[in-house]
Amino acid sequence: MNILVINGPNLNLLGTREPEVYGTDTLEELMMWLENSPEAAGHSFKFYQSNHEGEIIDSIHDEREWAHGLIINPAAFTHYSYAIRDAITAVGTPTVEVHLSDIHAREEFRQKSVISAVCIGQISGMGKQSYTEGIKFLTNYKG
Ligand code: DQA
Repeated sequence: MNILVINGPNLNLLGTREPEVYGTDTLEELMMWLENSPEAAGHSFKFYQSNHEGEIIDSIHDEREWAHGLIINPAAFTHYSYAIRDAITAVGTPTVEVHLSDIHAREEFRQKSVISAVCIGQISGMGKQSYTEGIKFLTNYKG
């Protein structure tokens, strides 16, 4: 399976950004860990990070022929980006929404996702394992 992994705004600062919430791994370490995890075996990956909504949408569009599945941590865009939601619907790529922290146990504004309804699953609060769970979700998806 070809899996596109997209990380949204401020996730480039992982490692030093609120480590008590997001852990101490950098984004590069996290993505290398993911690519080398047992769950990743046999799959191909492309990794993309952007702080800009339009660039995230462009990457969803640009990889629509290549990607069989999408794992996305939309970060703060989770809570208000109808444009990213529409992009996922437009390309039809099976998508899993992932979060490092448990968005349902944090501030009220984080508890709502405008993305999850167009995803095959949402995984939240498992730290970096949210991403490996995302792979499992995609590989078990029968849709
Ligand atoms: C996050 C949760 C979001 O609410 C926040 O804006 C992020 C990271 C997470 O992975 O826990 O930037 O998506």
